[in-house]
Amino acid sequence: MYVRTNEITQMMVKSHAKLNMMINRVVDGVNMSQKKRLAMFEDFCEKLNAHFKIEETGIFGFVGGNDQMTKTIRQLYDEHRELNKMVEKIGETIKTGSGDNFEEFLILMAKHTRTENEVLYPFLDLHLEEELRNKIRSEIKDSL
Ligand SMILES: [Fe+2]
Ligand SMILES: [Fe+2]
Repeated sequence: MYVRTNEITQMMVKSHAKLNMMINRVVDGVNMSQKKRLAMFEDFCEKLNAHFKIEETGIFGFVGGNDQMTKTIRQLYDEHRELNKMVEKIGETIKTGSGDNFEEFLILMAKHTRTENEVLYPFLDLHLEEELRNKIRSEIKDSL
């Protein structure tokens, strides 16, 4: 008998936690040199981009056949665009030292992460065919 697991959820929760830790270090790092802080922020951006990319190319496309979930996926795509725009703006303010503000970004990021951790990924773990879940897991493993 095949036992269902929640491995996709577990892997993505872990990746979200890592991203969260990285951005919190930047947020807390107001006393750091601007150069160091910018480097840490750029590291975060790179990881965030890789994360969004694997979600969009390796995961979101496999969800179908459920209107509510299709709507959720569309919303998650839109939030990626919006979060990217915010990140770009924050990068500029760190570079110019003109008073960065992470609040809006952190709020949307928390909401986005919650939807993925609590709705999307548990749905995939529960409803996708085993073969597809294995494919997603191996893609995530190689890219996160
Ligand atoms: Fe996402
Ligand atoms: Fe995510």
